[in-house]
Amino acid sequence: MIDYRDIIASEIFSDELGLSKDEIKSMIEIPSDESMGDFAFPCFRLAKTMRKSPQIIAADIAEKISVCNIFYKVEQVNAYVNVFINPSHIAENVVYEINKLGSEYGKSEIGQGKNIIVDFSSPNIAKPFHIGHIRSTVIGNSICKLYEALGYNVIGVNHLGDYGTQFGKMIVAYRKWGKEEELVKEPIKTLLGYYTKFHEEAEKDPSLDDEAREAFVRLEEGCEEEVELWEKFREYSLEEFNRVYKMLGITFDSYAGESFYSDKIPAVVEELKNKNLLEESQGAQIVDLEEYDLGAAMIMKSDGSSLYVTRDIATAIYRKNTYNFAKNLYVVASQQNLHFKQWKKVLNLMGYDWEKDCIHVPFGLVSLEDGEILSTRKGKVIFLEDLLKNAVAKTKDIMLEKNPDIPEIDTISREVGIGAVIFQELSNNRIKDYVFTWDKVLNFDGETGPYVQYTHVRASGILRNSTEDEINKAKEGTCDYSYLSGESAFRLIKLLYRVPEVIEDAANRYEPSILTRHLVEISQLFNKFYHDEHILVDNKDERIAKLSLVMATKIVIANSLALLGINAPERM
Ligand code: ARG
Repeated sequence: MIDYRDIIASEIFSDELGLSKDEIKSMIEIPSDESMGDFAFPCFRLAKTMRKSPQIIAADIAEKISVCNIFYKVEQVNAYVNVFINPSHIAENVVYEINKLGSEYGKSEIGQGKNIIVDFSSPNIAKPFHIGHIRSTVIGNSICKLYEALGYNVIGVNHLGDYGTQFGKMIVAYRKWGKEEELVKEPIKTLLGYYTKFHEEAEKDPSLDDEAREAFVRLEEGCEEEVELWEKFREYSLEEFNRVYKMLGITFDSYAGESFYSDKIPAVVEELKNKNLLEESQGAQIVDLEEYDLGAAMIMKSDGSSLYVTRDIATAIYRKNTYNFAKNLYVVASQQNLHFKQWKKVLNLMGYDWEKDCIHVPFGLVSLEDGEILSTRKGKVIFLEDLLKNAVAKTKDIMLEKNPDIPEIDTISREVGIGAVIFQELSNNRIKDYVFTWDKVLNFDGETGPYVQYTHVRASGILRNSTEDEINKAKEGTCDYSYLSGESAFRLIKLLYRVPEVIEDAANRYEPSILTRHLVEISQLFNKFYHDEHILVDNKDERIAKLSLVMATKIVIANSLALLGINAPERM
């Protein structure tokens, strides 16, 4: 793909500036106000070394850049050199290239040979996969796809919460009140019921807690009966989680959860001891982090059982040894900030310099405005599966109202309904808390998934109504791209051009919303182009040029939606 920054940097470069071409390139900006050019080079930094005012430097540079078929205007405004790209030049280069690359457009190889671990979703066995977990699942999945697009080898890990003292409680509860046939039908709701009952009963009879502790110790020791029950809980829960993952189209490379590390704990405790990091506190083993303002990290309870942070330390070491990761990301709610700070500090104190590559990617809370619409409420828990089913049903109603004869309504309402939920999740800056509202999620005209998908459908429809000959010519670029110089076409093409850098930026900042927002802008401009200009005009050259832009936009929307984990339907 043509690199305008590179061309501009070469034009600007000269020895007297005292900057390398790469430095110049990295300084080139894209002005938010298009009347200030398509690219701008700020000269403030040069004033000191060149002992001239930045305005004068900018004027000299502007003078030097030749106006040619690539740039139609170069001007100095204050301390900036503003460069204007010739619309037919960018149209010819960008539209042609996108149509040639197809599904490869936006990808790069910068991550070649590097491993990245993304720890995401990671629900707790026997506990509901609720609306809060959707954030980790959806954001994590998109981060995986963004890094894959950059050529990294991504290992998506579902670090299942399948271990810990709560399993002792679950075992005791199941022994007392459990019924296999209930469990088979609705594993998680049933287990949750037993668990709640356990807590109620244990308030009246504290000996239950002792029983639970014993059961967990027996589980850790590998006693057959406890292990069998635990395996049953894990298996049934996984079945239920997998149903949700299937609806979302999400897969994992590994399900190594907390239990996977249980046999690696003793070595970690030993290591901490040898490195003089462990201290005894009220019978428990801790790492004192008071001097870093991080309290104490509890490594081992007085009864010898391990904790969440202990297992996370073992996990990080195992992952480094197994995958030699370039980055090890944890997509987990910001409520766990302290946990991850403590954990990183402990790894750091253990002397692992790769701790800096272990990154907690936090996100904010989601709350519900109209709780009662989400029918299955149990306490305050909203089950993700119910939410997704609800989204599909609501979408089906909306679509039937718009067009009662739509073929394959079930497939399409699934793609649109689930896409809408995912898109909404990825629309906001991940760190922000937000309120989930159906009206916002399913609005076909707002900045939503359905709106973007509908834009894709519109582009598909236009191409369907064209002849094979036209399609081939548009793809091969046998056309006059100067027909794409109108304002909306030009602005749309510039957005398409920036997609690879938007993908890179979104990955670097672990922020899929950067891509989501860009995609909304692309859709808005495509629809503006569609309204401003007549596409299927009589003039054949013009028609083919415009079809080539429709084709390129369709490709970019489909590729970008895929990076968010959303399907791009052909019809809806
Ligand atoms: N199971 C945890 C929870 O639901 C999330 C685990 C995240 N991953 C990790 N390595 N700690 O809160």
